Amino acid sequence: MERIKSGIPGFDEKIEGGFEKGSIITVVGGPGSGKSIFGMQFLYQGLKDGENCLYVSLEEQPDDIKRDMLVLGMDPTDYISKGSMLISFASPLNFEYLPIIDLVRQKNVSRLVIDSISALALYFEDRAKFRKFLLDLISSLKGLNVTTILIDEEFENGSNDVKAFSGEYLADAVINLFYTGLGGEYDRSIQVMKMRRTNQYRAVIPMKIDKGGIYVK
Ligand SMILES: Nc1ncnc2c1ncn2[C@@H]1O[C@H](COP(=O)(O)OP(=O)(O)OP(=O)(O)O)[C@@H](O)[C@H]1O
Ligand SMILES: [Mg+2]
Repeated sequence: MERIKSGIPGFDEKIEGGFEKGSIITVVGGPGSGKSIFGMQFLYQGLKDGENCLYVSLEEQPDDIKRDMLVLGMDPTDYISKGSMLISFASPLNFEYLPIIDLVRQKNVSRLVIDSISALALYFEDRAKFRKFLLDLISSLKGLNVTTILIDEEFENGSNDVKAFSGEYLADAVINLFYTGLGGEYDRSIQVMKMRRTNQYRAVIPMKIDKGGIYVK
């Protein structure tokens, strides 16, 4: 099995060396838990490794994504101008996944982030339709060997409403981001809830976010 680096310092050693190439990973967390940063670091690793990467944003404008990356020390400018970093804004209102599939194919994209999948859930009539949509999306991506992070928002009140019809069951891996840590410098945490074909570290892992992004201990 081919594994690729996550881009998160300290994380790969908890997951047998990295993500399975071509797998679908859901990153779940509350507002401000670091989901987007996780996705940016994942793509930036790909850029450094000479891969083509696509960030599909349903909420933030491409300029904001660019600025966020810059502030965190991941300058995407050169990669954008030579075409290996693609940032595309998609409206959740009339979202279609086929253009993403086409882009991945045309540009030979090997790392993809969709931020966020939960932004789409609101526009489906019911759970069954949304789950069917996710299933279609995931099976199309599977055929392309593109390692994908689907970002999923979790709501603080513990309501399972959104989770119940999001991608956790369909994805190969589910990673949870938490606000609370074990104290000290690493004041947040991360947990790998599932990772198919991997004997992942199961306990809560200390995590921090600083000017260089996410670090795991
Ligand atoms: N330089 C920094 N030092 C410490 N923490 C930082 C720094 N930069 C960003 N953060 C933390 O990262 C958080 C933002 O991370 P990110 O945008 O990835 O969250 P998110 O889970 O995508 O949020 P949302 O649900 O709003 O999209 C900020 O709320 C802040 O707590
Ligand atoms: Mg975000």
